[in-house]
Amino acid sequence: MLTERMKKLIYEIPKGENHIHIEGSIPPEVAIRLAKKNGVDLPWKTAEELAAHLRQPFASLDAFMESDRMVNSVCQTEEDYAEVLYALAKQAKDQNIIYTEYLLDYPLNEIRGISLETVVNGYEAGRQKAMKELGVDIVFIAGIDRSLSSDMSLKFIRDIEPYKDIIPAIGMDCEENGHPCIKHKAAYDLAKEMGLYLSAHAGEDPNAGDMAVQNVWDAVDKMGCVRIEHGVLSIRDEALMKHLAEKKILLTTCPTGNCPHVFPRLEDHPLKFLMEQGIPCSISSDDPPYVGDLIETMLRTADALNLTEDDIIELERNSLLYSIRGQHHLKEFDAWVEKWKSEN
Ligand code: ADE
Ligand code: ZN
Repeated sequence: MLTERMKKLIYEIPKGENHIHIEGSIPPEVAIRLAKKNGVDLPWKTAEELAAHLRQPFASLDAFMESDRMVNSVCQTEEDYAEVLYALAKQAKDQNIIYTEYLLDYPLNEIRGISLETVVNGYEAGRQKAMKELGVDIVFIAGIDRSLSSDMSLKFIRDIEPYKDIIPAIGMDCEENGHPCIKHKAAYDLAKEMGLYLSAHAGEDPNAGDMAVQNVWDAVDKMGCVRIEHGVLSIRDEALMKHLAEKKILLTTCPTGNCPHVFPRLEDHPLKFLMEQGIPCSISSDDPPYVGDLIETMLRTADALNLTEDDIIELERNSLLYSIRGQHHLKEFDAWVEKWKSEN
């Protein structure tokens, strides 16, 4: 059971969130409204029905991705994308998130014939509005759909070149099983030449077998990633954990998002263990409508893993210390923590 003091800390601490997929995070009420407006026939007719579907425990990452791709189909115009982005920023503001990094999984939109310009312009309009009206600082990460061919991922990185100022980072996501990171090395080489920040989902899906651990090694050593999304299956390889700790590779963990398809119960999640190995970790929600927002994720994880106050502070500090933007928010964060410690 969490103490009242711990709950207060989790609600009030200024937060960074490094790992959230815009396409997986469309709030159900927005999704249903956009579906009606755009004539998209979803199997769920009300926000309540959709919300209940999303909160079911998915048996595998592949099953989750099927749902993720379907819900995203409601967005069609620049205004739709702007609306989704602003709705997410409002949720961030309500949780005292001051800085957040959003994976922009354009390939999920591209297969429906939506132009990159429509998606990026819409998200960017939402980002600007969020900064101005809510003061939430947002950075975009271009998410490569790893199930695509290497030619398609290379083209995607070429296509985002004109948007480098808006999208300063790349990532890789979607189904890990059957899709090794190394397949997209050419896209990462190009992104590196373009000066983009490199990250990738890896070590997430147990159904990928030994490839899951190999993906972490390859992403870090062969493709130049400076951080890994999830990376939790690194616990299977001691040498890898040592390597991640030595190289200070941030793992952006999403404990609620890993259960039950990676670990049966939240109590089994290795976040605390990974921190004890000296690996920098942060905590994120991944896809809030499916697994709860960041505050819910932090409350449940702290309870399940007996996290301490210092653990919470370390996780949140890491999200700002290792941020893509740089360390602009650290001073504000450190001052807040000092005040919290002196007053509480
Ligand atoms: N897209 C949305 N959530 C994801 C996850 N957890 N892993 C890979 N791709 C995703
Ligand atoms: Zn993710």
